[in-house]
Amino acid sequence: MYYPDNLVEEVRARNDIVEVISSYVRLQKKGSNHFGLCPFHNEKTASFSVSQPKQMYHCFGCGKSGNVITFIMEYENYTFPEALKLLADRAGVSLPEIEYSKEEKERDSLKTRVLEAYREAGVYYYRVLRSDAGKRAYDYFKDRGLSDETINKFGLGFAVTGRNLLYNHLRSKGFDDRVLNEMRIFRMSERDGMTDIFWNRAIFPIMNVSNKIIAFGGRVMGQGEPKYLNSPESIVFDKGRNLYGLNHARISRKNNIIVCEGYMDVIALHQAGFNQAVGSLGTALTSGHVNLLKRYTDNVLLCYDNDGAGTKANLRAIQMLRDVGLSVKVINMSPHKDPDEFLSNLGAEEFETRIKNAENAFYYEVRMLEGDHDLNDPDGRTRFANEVAKKLLKFEDPIERDNYLEAICVKYHIKTENMSKLLAKLAARGEGIEVYERPRSGIHSSSPEDGIKKTQKLLLTWLCDDPGIYRLIGKYLTADDFTEEIYRKAAAMLFDQIEKDEINPARIVSCFTSEEEQNEIGSLFNTKLEMLETRQDREKALKDLLLKVKTYSFDMQRNNNEQTDLNTLDQAIKNKKILQEIQALKLELSE
Ligand code: GTP
Ligand code: MN
Repeated sequence: MYYPDNLVEEVRARNDIVEVISSYVRLQKKGSNHFGLCPFHNEKTASFSVSQPKQMYHCFGCGKSGNVITFIMEYENYTFPEALKLLADRAGVSLPEIEYSKEEKERDSLKTRVLEAYREAGVYYYRVLRSDAGKRAYDYFKDRGLSDETINKFGLGFAVTGRNLLYNHLRSKGFDDRVLNEMRIFRMSERDGMTDIFWNRAIFPIMNVSNKIIAFGGRVMGQGEPKYLNSPESIVFDKGRNLYGLNHARISRKNNIIVCEGYMDVIALHQAGFNQAVGSLGTALTSGHVNLLKRYTDNVLLCYDNDGAGTKANLRAIQMLRDVGLSVKVINMSPHKDPDEFLSNLGAEEFETRIKNAENAFYYEVRMLEGDHDLNDPDGRTRFANEVAKKLLKFEDPIERDNYLEAICVKYHIKTENMSKLLAKLAARGEGIEVYERPRSGIHSSSPEDGIKKTQKLLLTWLCDDPGIYRLIGKYLTADDFTEEIYRKAAAMLFDQIEKDEINPARIVSCFTSEEEQNEIGSLFNTKLEMLETRQDREKALKDLLLKVKTYSFDMQRNNNEQTDLNTLDQAIKNKKILQEIQALKLELSE
């Protein structure tokens, strides 16, 4: 933990969750909760709920859950301290100097030093490119059509052939081996000591969104293997969370971001005026990239290479981008291989046209499916229609689904009524549709473990919504009755809060650090309770829940005792009495 708990709590408490989320998501009040479209997955009906009393959000669709701090972390893609800082500023709370642990302090200063060393290395390669020694590389860039302005904008450089020129340069600037080692761009050899990894290569500095150099790519000039050598991941470079060129693209003022593959593609696009281009640099798009993109745009234009690998990359990216609610289109570069070649052959104006004509991702997917089937063969046509139907089922919105259905049927000469029937058939089999579980009574569930977990969640949610019932059932319940470690911890904290009359589930969320744990805790206090009409029904339901939780807890206890051979009989009799007592309990809930 970076900050003391009570400070985290103060920042959290001073930022009302409904106010904060309202500035990101349009919310509508319904009953005691506010609802809106979930910002974390793609949906057309509002299943994202924000509770003012609990100061938590929960999405019944994708399961994301948490308090105001986790919301900012998720939405803004911030780390915990970054999110806390934003909220502290918003509420006018001043944060003290961060209480770093010794290791954190060291790591942080090491990171700062590594960034400084990268900066110095960037300057070094940049100067070499502009010196006599760099003439070959400079000519190479010029041959590839880059202007001086572009070469400067991207800070391009050159590494001449030499065993340890950069290493010696950085040593002379006062960087020690510990720092240089962390850069990961030197190799240790017994004979030569530390040697540079970039020899005779054109250098492309990779920068993060704050314009800090965090890695290099080095290209052979002309032919040679490997064509590109990239610096490996390090304490400052996480491939899956950085996009080449995003430092420029984020301020492009365009309403889309173009995603392509290579350094040269990004650079050529920027030079041609498409300053919203970024590159995933040979790696497949990761969820880190997707989150990063979502931070800066709603519309992604895919511009991967026009080859088999590019098609695969497109299909994969479409799915991932769509899952977070981004609108996706695919740019067709045919007959050229990549944007760089396209621009040097057909020019910017033609590329602009290709952007305008970019293909809707769904049509693209269907067109690729078409390539996998022989549409002249009746069996091939049937299989194709089935695959299309499965894709159509993924649309949550019936109007959108119908529109696509009609368009596709017209295009492929399929009778719409046949396609509709096929959809109905597949849906009835539960195929394609992503149905998420909406807990109702909590009793029906797939596995017994899921069932009992849900029962425990329902009980915790109920206690949290109506802490008055703790007075009635609290003496029968202990945190140890909950089966999962994380439930036990949360229950213990909740019971403690109820006893002190300071109910604050959002605070409990802050006590868990991982995203999975926070989601899990969120769902503990936000399971959907069925609205039971009459008081008798509610009393019966509550008693059922309590009995189920206790019975399961006793069963588990018995299993353990049998294994350890404790006085099981005594315990069993005691437990049975408790269950009978609960059975006979007169729960008087208020109306
Ligand atoms: P050129 O136009 O030939 O300079 O390359 P490109 O930008 O068209 O790149 P290409 O489509 O060949 O590859 C796309 C990206 O994959 C490159 O920009 C690199 O980031 C990465 N890449 C390509 N070749 C290699 C390689 O040999 N090794 C590694 N590690 N990455 C590579
Ligand atoms: Mn290329």
